[in-house]
Amino acid sequence: MVEPMIRTLGDTRIPADVSAAISTTKNALRAQLCSPGDLAEVFAEVEDAMRTEVASVVAERDAGWAVIPVVRFADIAAGTVPGGTREAISRRGCAVVRGTFPRARAEAWDAELAEYLAENRFAETYRGPADDAFAGLASSQPQIYPVYWSRPQMQARQDDNMVLVRSFLNSFWRHESEGRSWFDPNRDTAYPDRIRRRQPGSGSLGLSAHTDSGSVERWLLPAYQRVFRHVFDGRWRDYDPWDGAYRTEVNEFPSTVMCSAFRTFQGWTALSEMRPTDGVLQLLPIPSAMAYLLLRALQPDLAEDDLCGAANGQSLPVSEKHHEVLLPALSVIPAVEPGDTVWWHGDLVHAVADGSNPDRWGNVMYIPASPHCAKNAAYARACGQAFLAGASPGDFAAEDYEVNWVGRATVDDLNRTGRAQLGLDEA
Ligand SMILES: [Fe+2]
Repeated sequence: MVEPMIRTLGDTRIPADVSAAISTTKNALRAQLCSPGDLAEVFAEVEDAMRTEVASVVAERDAGWAVIPVVRFADIAAGTVPGGTREAISRRGCAVVRGTFPRARAEAWDAELAEYLAENRFAETYRGPADDAFAGLASSQPQIYPVYWSRPQMQARQDDNMVLVRSFLNSFWRHESEGRSWFDPNRDTAYPDRIRRRQPGSGSLGLSAHTDSGSVERWLLPAYQRVFRHVFDGRWRDYDPWDGAYRTEVNEFPSTVMCSAFRTFQGWTALSEMRPTDGVLQLLPIPSAMAYLLLRALQPDLAEDDLCGAANGQSLPVSEKHHEVLLPALSVIPAVEPGDTVWWHGDLVHAVADGSNPDRWGNVMYIPASPHCAKNAAYARACGQAFLAGASPGDFAAEDYEVNWVGRATVDDLNRTGRAQLGLDEA
């Protein structure tokens, strides 16, 4: 633990001089690992463990096995998920949930979204990307629409099936540890996000490998230092990616990529069929790879203020240059159908492959899992007010396209869950 650096756990002030803060923090973290020799030794162990895990992913993939675990929604609903599948999700940090929604329902949502956009002349009025969230990555931003409050999105977020899947996924986390309760795995808050629509024939420009939920923050923030206390203390084998401790106290520096919520899993709901060659999501299914990323940035081959290219306000890049040990494990998700959902641990390295879908759409609604805790509830309440106004949620550029749109979801479209997720019954 780097006690002298800890101001308050919730501190979100961006250091006046980020470079200087990185140098100071790196020195403090190295000192905490006792001696340069210890750092080299610990890092060699982590690298070795990563090579073994990466080799296992590659071997399973080459043998034609599913390295991204697949679970049937019907099994989640019936409480009959096989033990082996649970183990696989825990080890791999991700899952595809088949049939979270009936195919016909997802296809109807897709059609309704297209109508919603057409009726409100989105294509004619779109002003272009409003942020440079992906500017630091090799490829540019794919086809993301800043639309948050359509009826299909609200219906999917508040649906009983979605609630069930989220609490199943939350159950992989330890929500009580260090003598505290960090979140309620069986109670949701909303984290309203956007949609992606990729037209047939439009190639994906892809997104290079990265992680979300903080870049330089993962080293600089006192709360993240506590999340990763075992890694920074040299006890990396004790680091548990599923321990919720201190995660709900992380407050990222304000930027266009910041996430104000603690997400146990990021996720999306498929609205169209997508195949592995379509330029789809790739996951590096090793949750503990974060320990490697953290320690790699403390190695002596880097400049004092360099965290392997991490830049404040951008996603954390994972590159050939610094992380070639990991990248062979990057694995494309299996084919998905409308109504399937795809989920990955918030620390998981992911990318979007280059590719094209010549005769298919590639459409999803981004809907993560953000369980109830003080931090998530406060953000969700603010989102509830944005919803009433049709404004963009606070974490996203204030494009506010939907303010005057017709057909937007209203409070009357929400069930009890939907209102609770947005804190609308608490006002
Ligand atoms: Fe991402």
